[in-house]
Amino acid sequence: MVNLAQAVQPNVRNTRLSDIYGFSEQLAQIPDLVSLTLGEPDFPTPEHVKQAGIAAIMADQSHYTETWGRLATRTAAAAFLHERYGLDYDPATQVVITNGVTEAMYATLATLVGPGDEVLLPTPAFPVYDSLVELNEGHLVEINTEPDGFLLTPARLQATLAAHPRAKVLLLNFPSNPTGRSYSASQIDALAQVVAQTDLVVVSDEIYSELTYTGRHVSFAKYLPEQTILFNGLSKSHAMTGWRIGVIAGPAALVTEIAKVRELMSTSVMTAAQVAAAEAFGNGMNDAAPMRAEYERRRDYLYTAFQALGFQCEKPQGAFYLFAKIPDRFDLDSAAFCQDVAETAKVGLIPGSSFGAGGEGYVRASYATSMANLHEAVRRLQTYCANH
Ligand SMILES: Cc1ncc(COP(=O)(O)O)c(C=O)c1O
Repeated sequence: MVNLAQAVQPNVRNTRLSDIYGFSEQLAQIPDLVSLTLGEPDFPTPEHVKQAGIAAIMADQSHYTETWGRLATRTAAAAFLHERYGLDYDPATQVVITNGVTEAMYATLATLVGPGDEVLLPTPAFPVYDSLVELNEGHLVEINTEPDGFLLTPARLQATLAAHPRAKVLLLNFPSNPTGRSYSASQIDALAQVVAQTDLVVVSDEIYSELTYTGRHVSFAKYLPEQTILFNGLSKSHAMTGWRIGVIAGPAALVTEIAKVRELMSTSVMTAAQVAAAEAFGNGMNDAAPMRAEYERRRDYLYTAFQALGFQCEKPQGAFYLFAKIPDRFDLDSAAFCQDVAETAKVGLIPGSSFGAGGEGYVRASYATSMANLHEAVRRLQTYCANH
């Protein structure tokens, strides 16, 4: 009998995938569940962007593009990053279009991380990073940010670097999935000053930048462009998850190497999607504004409602997640709590333990769903909490 298991590389076999999707699918089997599990915008793609995609298909723009992405799309993306965040990238040498930020993450970590390389990750964090470090046989160093309101402080970064002086990469994601926390200009500046003393490469996933409710989003690349690989994209800002458009921007020397890996993954990104992306970046600079206003209204509602239910939480400053502490009296870990809430109250939440150190004891609630669903979820949780 053929032994297929021995054909699989140990690093692949040992790579664990996030349980978020599995858990959500399992919950989806529960009839009448109100799901606050996934980070999937509940808005349609803006009309002018859809029309640009349709026109591209009808004009037979259906062939490969430059492997880095169409220059027009890269130029529009660079102009967007300039206009919105004051960043200066040369579209010819510093910007690559990817199949979503997911592909950007894969190509970047495959480029930067080899066996034993230390990668610093402030947690709780988006779990794909953890899996990619495993796949590349790097060594993940989690920095638990729970004691600091889910923000990485310069002091904690310095302490981590003292214990891991050979660390190669610092992963950042803000506004954060799962905590909704983000950094002010002075907080970024302070972190950048610590990083500038090192050879660290900062990989800064700012995919939620347009969904910032408190002040303006400030990019890490604004303070330390020479050490930053920036990710952005259209999935969240323009409700375009299915179009698969991400952007990598950074120093030409690094971007050139990352672009090689990306080229090997998929040659180029779907051409009509790239044309639509140029329209979104170029003429949809403010497309996120109405969605942001609606998410902010939901954030305010859910934040107040969860606190009234006895869940402590930091006020989310961006993205569309609330990270809330399970009240002590429940005496269940977060996975058991979410299972019970799903079965008994018929509300879907994600266990905080899915997001690494500092997440246990919490739940993540996504408010990328209608206000009616949020009202119903809160009503059910009120009944559930009253009975416990
Ligand atoms: C922090 C973070 N990065 C990246 C992604 C994936 O983005 P994309 O759809 O562009 O691949 C997500 C999706 O939820 C996310 O939360």
